[in-house]
Amino acid sequence: MNAKQLAAEQAVTHLEHDMIVGLGTGTTAYHAIQGIAARVKEGLRIRTVASSKQSEELAQQLGIPTVPFASIDGIDLTIDGADEVDESLHLIKGGGGALLREKILASNSAKLIIIVDESKLVRKLGQFPLPVEITPFAYELTMKQVRSLGCNPVLRVAEGKTFVTDNGNFILDCAFGVIDHPAELSVKLLAIPGVAEHGLFVNMADTVIIGSSEGTVRYLQ
Ligand code: A5P
Repeated sequence: MNAKQLAAEQAVTHLEHDMIVGLGTGTTAYHAIQGIAARVKEGLRIRTVASSKQSEELAQQLGIPTVPFASIDGIDLTIDGADEVDESLHLIKGGGGALLREKILASNSAKLIIIVDESKLVRKLGQFPLPVEITPFAYELTMKQVRSLGCNPVLRVAEGKTFVTDNGNFILDCAFGVIDHPAELSVKLLAIPGVAEHGLFVNMADTVIIGSSEGTVRYLQ
């Protein structure tokens, strides 16, 4: 079993009957969705909401009950991956482009469990370029304002075309270097009209489960 799968298998032991569960996005969240499916097959009674079309489709293929957001009041537990985790459990997310929906789920979750392998742990955030989701309208101007905060934003491209999120937006990958004050950067980014959301998750994760290639699992909380 690989490190991501180990962390995911540990995370799904936290599921309980009747929970509303948020499904993350990415290669680590993929393992969690597989693990959730196995528990549902064993009789676990839960309902889920997904942070991306991709994760929703996977859940449905695997027989996990998914429900519309209109049918729930909140989320008990979300299990998701991350691109970076620092010592204070602040995160960078959005490498897969689902950061806006992931943050909506996270902020409506009583508990957020983040699952990672050891490569995601950093002392300070910023080695991974920060994904920033922006509206396509006048994106060149939005890019200019993001640049003025001290990075060189790169418009994300996939398969030769501008990457478009599930929300119809673009992503800027912003290498800020070491981010000493993530909460301050968050406020500055969100003050720019055209920025829909960014991948800094400050004070949102309750627990981080780290799988290692040696087969061990440890918790940060
Ligand atoms: C998706 O937008 C991301 O936030 C992912 O959760 C994050 O990039 C981690 O992805 P992996 O588990 O694939 O590394």
